Amino acid sequence: MQEQEVKIPSHIAIILDGNGRWAKKRNMPRNYGHTQGSKTVEKICEDAYKIGVKYLTVYAFSTENWKRPKDEVDAIMKLLRSYLQTSKKTAKKNNMRVRILGDKTGLSEDIQKSIDELEEVSRENTGLNLQVAINYGGRDEIIRAVKALSLDIKKNTIAIDNIDEKAMENYMDTKGIPDPDLLIRTSGEKRLSNFLLWQLAYTEFYFTDVLWPDFDKKELMKAIEYYNSRVRRFGAIS
Ligand code: FPP
Repeated sequence: MQEQEVKIPSHIAIILDGNGRWAKKRNMPRNYGHTQGSKTVEKICEDAYKIGVKYLTVYAFSTENWKRPKDEVDAIMKLLRSYLQTSKKTAKKNNMRVRILGDKTGLSEDIQKSIDELEEVSRENTGLNLQVAINYGGRDEIIRAVKALSLDIKKNTIAIDNIDEKAMENYMDTKGIPDPDLLIRTSGEKRLSNFLLWQLAYTEFYFTDVLWPDFDKKELMKAIEYYNSRVRRFGAIS
């Protein structure tokens, strides 16, 4: 049988879930799961880029996640801080462009500064485009976009009649980034959890029971195989 060519999705979005359960299964604190989870993010970035993925978007911290116990929120922020710092070096080494999605103003000032620096130093990189969603909520993003758009209407920089999908995209955090072709959610949950509500309108969804820290290249390829089965059945997905 002739082997069919594998179509690699250009943009993969991931709801990384199951860090806590992964740690619990090992009688370890939840924060240990988050540490392993952040290592998995780094590994998957490399794997995804090597197979030809151009954009990868990961949900690291939602607007809802602030409701978690303070020590867990603090530990996640510490991890993100160190991730943002080390990424300045790894982005250069891997030619990776990093952008942060979400309401940056809700983050502590040092994190905001790190984000600005990382986005700036990686701006010209032409390898993988990594989007990390931090203090992100899909509804919050749409509200912020509507507010910014309303201000432009007030300033007469855009006319109401000219508001269409393309114009709206200019106000989203993902401005200039194509919509995801494939969404992966780990750990058996089948919810969207307020992730990329606007951008996932036509995206294929893949769910797996694998907990995020265990997600690896083999699992990534299974998700891509599933995506291919959908593309083969339905042709261009819409
Ligand atoms: C998912 O598992 C955990 C999160 C969404 C929170 C933090 C994510 C990370 C630390 C990954 C790091 C990302 C980067 C970019 C460094 P969960 O705690 O919801 O797991 P559970 O459902 O088993 O409790």
